[in-house]
Amino acid sequence: MDYQSISVAPLSGAMGAEISGVDLSKNLSNQVFTEIHQALLENLVIVFHDQYLTPEACKLVAQKFGKLVKYPFVEGLHQHPEIFEIRKEPDEKKNFGGNWHSDMSFTELPPMGTMLYSLEVPSKGGDTMLTNLYLAYESLSEGLKSLLEDMEAEYSAALKHAGGRRNVMNATRFDVANLDRAEESFYHPIVRKHPETGQKALYISSGHLLRFKDMRVEESKPLLDFLKNHATQPDFTCRVKYRKGTLVLWDNRCTQHRALNDYHGERRVMHRLTIGATEF
Ligand code: OGA
Ligand code: MN
Repeated sequence: MDYQSISVAPLSGAMGAEISGVDLSKNLSNQVFTEIHQALLENLVIVFHDQYLTPEACKLVAQKFGKLVKYPFVEGLHQHPEIFEIRKEPDEKKNFGGNWHSDMSFTELPPMGTMLYSLEVPSKGGDTMLTNLYLAYESLSEGLKSLLEDMEAEYSAALKHAGGRRNVMNATRFDVANLDRAEESFYHPIVRKHPETGQKALYISSGHLLRFKDMRVEESKPLLDFLKNHATQPDFTCRVKYRKGTLVLWDNRCTQHRALNDYHGERRVMHRLTIGATEF
């Protein structure tokens, strides 16, 4: 598409774009919003640098895309329960979101998008990697595509948050909530048709994926391991680099991401907002 009101610069050959020419603290005109929305659908993740936004302003931007939903296992900010802070302190080793996943795939209706706004970034490192699940699907053989066409998989947060594994969440840092609900699971199709683009994606969310429906874990594992590796090959990815005041928005319906943990000894602070979906 030709953009009239914004500039769109690709981040890699696979996905992602940096958008300039927009001040997100101002009211977005319909024209500008339509172009930003189009840029998200075409690039799967969009990045805006040098934005100076209050939590209210972040919420206004996110709400243009849909209704905000809460992340079930972490308490939000006192004044803004829809926002939670992702913080890693210099003395901490674990990070949040460090394995490949698509956000909240363990819920009944996973969110359409996630927004991160950087408040404090390390002097180097702390990037987010993302992967394009349309490319992951398109590059499969016709045989494997048809085998997967009607398969569903079971997703659960149990791998991350259940029982004794609460330390995975940096429980010292986060106000962990609802851990009893981490054992719930839901089924989703592996081949997912994106409701807005109509394109098929290989909906893999590695960290939350337990097994195929009606199969045992050990039966599912070899093919799931293949798909998990396949979906994260470097050729399908891009890397988002932050400065203070970077706002990032990704589409969870056709991507996975992982937070790199290569900045021990430094602080990184993000505000995270989650945008709900109306259909799968
Ligand atoms: C998330 C997440 C990645 C990051 O917010 O869902 O995985 O780079 N964050 O902080
Ligand atoms: Mn995430």
